[in-house]
Amino acid sequence: MMADETTLADLARAVGAARTIAVLTGSGLSAASGVPTFRDAQTGLWAHYRPEELANPEAFERDPTTVWQWYRARRQTLAEIVANDGHRALADLANELPDVRLITQNVDGLHQQAGHSNVIEFHGNIRVNQCHNEGREVEVDDAVDTPPACPHCGGLVRPGVVWFGEAIDPQAIERATQAAQACDVFLSVGTSAEVHPAAGLADLARRNGAHIAEINPDATPLSDRVTWIVRDSAARVLPELRRLSHNQHA
Ligand code: OAD
Repeated sequence: MMADETTLADLARAVGAARTIAVLTGSGLSAASGVPTFRDAQTGLWAHYRPEELANPEAFERDPTTVWQWYRARRQTLAEIVANDGHRALADLANELPDVRLITQNVDGLHQQAGHSNVIEFHGNIRVNQCHNEGREVEVDDAVDTPPACPHCGGLVRPGVVWFGEAIDPQAIERATQAAQACDVFLSVGTSAEVHPAAGLADLARRNGAHIAEINPDATPLSDRVTWIVRDSAARVLPELRRLSHNQHA
């Protein structure tokens, strides 16, 4: 592996020269905004639950109030959070480069807050509410302690996120697959690369000839298959990557 500065300069050259770039972000990108990562978020009252035990349809059907309250606590945390320099750098790169496709596993909406339009939300959005029976998006008062009733069918309302064991929106799958197949460079940012199918997108890109970069302070199962590894916070690395690739264009 090259020293990080050389790696970043080399990656910036590839980013500047790429026709299409695909980016997959995970909760590590939002860490610098103060959002605990998906697996680090279990504190206080929730410390004795594993996230996988709560983020699934069976848990909601068995005990809707507990799952609702867990998401309510997450929503309250997110209400006080703003996008960071990493989100902003990605939004700027998308404006400056010919074709950047952003896929996020995050449900926090911070890419959009940073001005990024056209985000592929792979796991939905926690700010949205949907009917658990019908799957449709609904408008309800969600500042309550138990799941509201769907205004259309009376079923239980839940957050609009994708739970373990649930299908990803086919349109999101389609767009993400196309992005992975089309890209020359694939950036894997702040994700543990453990949860499929999102984690498989980098390998799909690689099979189609793309080079992969991992931006993450820690190793992941993907690390042994990437061209560039930058072991630092995404909020520090992405603005620098943008600056270096920009200078190269100028
Ligand atoms: P994880 O909590 O699994 O992983 C977060 C990753 O971010 C780890 O690899 C950390 O090393 C890395 N990280 C921490 N701080 C960082 C920083 N400042 N900069 C860059 N990276 C940093 O979260 P995800 O990979 O997002 O899905 O989890 C993927 C999916 O698992 C989630 O979307 C969620 C869960 O299943 C659903 O809820 C459907």
